[in-house]
Amino acid sequence: MGQRFSAWFMNPFCKSINNNVKNEKALLFDSMTQLRETLDRDLVICEIGARSGVNYKHYPPRSKLICVEPNQYSRSYLEENIRTTNPSLTLKDFVCGFAESMPGIDNECVDAVVCTLVLCCVKNQKEVLSEVLRILRPDGQFYFMEHVADQPGTFRRKMQNTFTPAWKLLTGNCHLNNNARAVLQDAGFKSVRTTDFTYRSMLWLIRPWMFGVATK
Ligand SMILES: C[S@@+](CC[C@H](N)C(=O)[O-])C[C@H]1O[C@@H](n2cnc3c(N)ncnc32)[C@H](O)[C@@H]1O
Repeated sequence: MGQRFSAWFMNPFCKSINNNVKNEKALLFDSMTQLRETLDRDLVICEIGARSGVNYKHYPPRSKLICVEPNQYSRSYLEENIRTTNPSLTLKDFVCGFAESMPGIDNECVDAVVCTLVLCCVKNQKEVLSEVLRILRPDGQFYFMEHVADQPGTFRRKMQNTFTPAWKLLTGNCHLNNNARAVLQDAGFKSVRTTDFTYRSMLWLIRPWMFGVATK
């Protein structure tokens, strides 16, 4: 019941957040078109923490999708969003589970992994990124966008640290002091490119964001 309500409630919420970062999303996914052209074939894309699927309109036509999402009730919203935003996509597989362990997905079988607003709430970022590297083909790309911790020593970072325990309880494990930037740099990618930006949120604690692409 909780998961069903959450899937229904989060669908418009995720769309609204997504609409506020549409310019940054366009920049993020620009190089996915380039990847499609370089490989000269339809892409296989794995999206982790897909929820209702807010990124599909950015994917190259005819891409094949593997969606990993612990909330089983997200699937119908996700299929609806494929139909309405990019009907040429194929949902190859919907894996109801956590990205820390994806045994159902073979080694080096996907061209790209997408992860937006998910690393802030996973149980173990290192395990997730290790699985991302396992399933990506050599030279495959990891596309990410996250709200993140402010620089160490700033007043906002201190407040993020202070309020994270309560925020986690309210939001289902979301960390205001999300340290994904450092964890990504140490994960073992060949390169990690990030761009910082400010999300125009009323919530001052979640204004620092970043997006980027890491290459295996
Ligand atoms: C804030 S929502 C983001 C949804 C969507 N990616 C977006 O950009 O709007 C976070 C999603 O991550 C999922 N999630 C949480 N922990 C996860 C994990 N360990 N592995 C995969 N997905 C997870 C949640 O169920 C939820 O759908």
